[in-house]
Amino acid sequence: MSDAIGVSLLGAGNVGGGVVAALTRGGERYAHHVGRTLELRRALVRDASRPREGIAPHLLTQDVADILADDGTHIVVELMGNEEPAREYIAMALRSGRHVVTANKEVMAKCGTELLALAAEHGVRLLYEASVGGGIPTISPLQRDLLANEITAVTAIINGTTNYMLTEMAQRGAGYEDVLRDAQQLGYAEPDPTADVEGIDASYKLAILCSLAFHVAVTPDDVSRQGIARLSARDFLYASELGYTIKLLASGRMEVGELVATVQPTLIAKDEPLAKVDGVLNAVQIEGDLVGRVLFEGPGAGPAATASAVLADVLDVARDLVAGRTSPVALARPAVRVRPPAEHHSRYYLRVTVSDQAGVLAKIAGALGDNGVSIASMVQFEADVDAGTAELVFTTHRAQGGSLATAITQVAAMEVVREVGNVLPIDGQGGPR
Ligand code: NAP
Ligand code: HSE
Repeated sequence: MSDAIGVSLLGAGNVGGGVVAALTRGGERYAHHVGRTLELRRALVRDASRPREGIAPHLLTQDVADILADDGTHIVVELMGNEEPAREYIAMALRSGRHVVTANKEVMAKCGTELLALAAEHGVRLLYEASVGGGIPTISPLQRDLLANEITAVTAIINGTTNYMLTEMAQRGAGYEDVLRDAQQLGYAEPDPTADVEGIDASYKLAILCSLAFHVAVTPDDVSRQGIARLSARDFLYASELGYTIKLLASGRMEVGELVATVQPTLIAKDEPLAKVDGVLNAVQIEGDLVGRVLFEGPGAGPAATASAVLADVLDVARDLVAGRTSPVALARPAVRVRPPAEHHSRYYLRVTVSDQAGVLAKIAGALGDNGVSIASMVQFEADVDAGTAELVFTTHRAQGGSLATAITQVAAMEVVREVGNVLPIDGQGGPR
């Protein structure tokens, strides 16, 4: 039998193809890094009759049992996506004594704690660097390089599709429907864009980051979420006039032992590093008590970039195998109280369309004041003479989410108010971060 380290793939699509291409191109270098050759053993696909570049047809299978029965497979790399059957196949591979590498954010966000415990029980490793931020190192820095820190905040742009769309809205003044169509034509957004535009994809990634950063059990249900579909070109215009841009920020922090985790369109000052992360790029900003603030930025998707992260995990496991190192035990992650949005504190941006008549401003200011929401600034940006309306944009001082929600219910019920447009948090200076 060969002394190569055997690698089998569950999935040979975009990322799987990138992994095979990199393995083929960099095989000699990887053998040098590891001390033994890496050998592609089998690849699970839905349709094994379709040829795959770089994979000999006899290596393709539609039956996961073929991979689990292969004694030469030491590392199973899961690149199928979705929760099932990926979760089940990962569990089967771990139980069979195989180390597993996965890029699957949904599985790791929803079932990471139980799968990591299963890996430890079977003395094998489960690595998932590619599950957040594609090619950007995010998991390993939290697990190793920043471990000495008490992490105080994680603030990230971790969905490339929506970052592309919001960048286009900010820079071109384009509307939501237009940029969604562009993103679909360019292949960034799926035909059904729900997971991206509703912040579901980002909530999976944030749950993974928060679990690692704060050493507690976090699932996607713990993340409060607001999508980008209600944003209009006017919000970007007004935000810009006030010195901000708008990003879909994923933000996690612990406040007095409680988790505050949100994915929401957020105003961010134009001179903040995260405000300058444009297009499909991702970035993860981590704040620690020792290191201060660090920012990781780069491609959050794509076959080659994602293969970079997947293969880093494969090489790490392969080196352990060659050195005969045993795997670390899984650390317990205690449950944590999650603060509901009504208990969040932030500065806010609020856009209201009103009848352009005397006394309106005083009424709205009164509702905000009655609920303890202090106004930081107010600008009347636009008056539509024909419609007899004006657009008022408020920013508030730091306020409680529940108090603001009550005030907004009262404002929306006023006869002089035509529409309450967007209510968005403002990052920093006591904002979500
Ligand atoms: P993809 O192109 O859709 O590839 C999925 C692969 O899995 C295909 O080869 C498919 O087989 C196979 N597969 C799916 N369900 C299967 C089943 N039930 N049984 C057997 N084979 C099955 O997906 P991808 O874009 O490579 O993404 C893979 C993973 O990487 C996902 O978890 C994704 O979230 C993650 N990820 C992707 C990116 C990116 O840039 N694409 C970035 C970061 C992380 P067929 O080819 O026969 O259909
Ligand atoms: N749909 C994701 C994004 C791909 O747009 O970032 C990587 O997870």
